[in-house]
Amino acid sequence: MIDDKFKVLFAALMKKEVPFEDILDTIRGEDKLSVKDVISVDDLTIEDIQLIFRITHCFKYGFEEQGPKKLGLLKGKAILNLFVEDSTRTRISFEIAGKELGADTINMGKSGSSLAKKGETLNDTARTIDSMNFDCIIIRHNSPGVPQMIAKEVRCPIINGGDGCHEHPTQALLDLYTIYEKMEKLKGCEVVIVGDISHSRVAGSLIRILNKVGANVCIAGPATLIPFGIEKMGVTVYHDIEKAVKDKDVIYALRIQLERAAKAFIPTVREYSKMFCITPERLKLAKPHCIVMHPGPINREVDLRTEVMEGPQSVVEEQVTNGYNIRLALLYLIVKEYEEKRIARWEQRRARAV
Ligand code: CP
Repeated sequence: MIDDKFKVLFAALMKKEVPFEDILDTIRGEDKLSVKDVISVDDLTIEDIQLIFRITHCFKYGFEEQGPKKLGLLKGKAILNLFVEDSTRTRISFEIAGKELGADTINMGKSGSSLAKKGETLNDTARTIDSMNFDCIIIRHNSPGVPQMIAKEVRCPIINGGDGCHEHPTQALLDLYTIYEKMEKLKGCEVVIVGDISHSRVAGSLIRILNKVGANVCIAGPATLIPFGIEKMGVTVYHDIEKAVKDKDVIYALRIQLERAAKAFIPTVREYSKMFCITPERLKLAKPHCIVMHPGPINREVDLRTEVMEGPQSVVEEQVTNGYNIRLALLYLIVKEYEEKRIARWEQRRARAV
């Protein structure tokens, strides 16, 4: 994913104290993403993921090091965070990333907009937003398929910030990056995802992206929270947590989604916790170097025991840091490429007019 040639080039540029903007330009070279929108991890090729990871690495290990907290890379650009469903990590990291790249970031939610009480449809809202010439829109919505629907209505790139039980592609990217940094490999990595698979967009995207890079994926949870036929996605299903975590490199605990339907599928939260909470005893069954991940927000003592969450094998806080760096990289690549395409179209029109 991040090959030695790239690491040598990055280290040399850092040593020469090349300005950070020029480092990004050099690392990016002629490479471009194959997509305008990021709606599903299925949209991304391995080359796309490699490019995003290289730029993420630059931000993580070069940006802070070099000084100015604000860059002018997206100066004059406007980014809309359209978050119809609540979020802390995704919304704030996209907002701060946009600001640090020099863009104007605007937040819009259901409350306070014409979506709620005035009854404007989502399609009409999208067309209205499009008339204001945004350079990128990040959408979170509780209904699956909304980012895809809006992408058809607007000209600018759309990034899916999580749509219902469907997908959360930037979470999958940050999780994959975290696993790669910790394990130094992805192919053959033994990963178990534990919990409410049925209602989890995180699980859906993570299984797809792990399959793409050749990791071995297992899932574990109560039968009522595992979708029928999920084995077709190439995963092994366990209902016994002790068997599921045995000899794993990564234990990924999901949040039991008490605000969604999950409560209706388990006898009680206490019972669920007894059977599936990641405890220190269960963690000992995994490989000694096993890392513990969780997308947040965490239900303490239900998804993870506090000792595990705050223990040395937990990478939960690093996931958040990597999320911010992944979103810096993605915004930089997506908005820059959109601008380059617009300039190319304008130059073609001008050439025809002369
Ligand atoms: N992991 C995640 O999407 O968290 P938020 O809901 O806080 O954005």
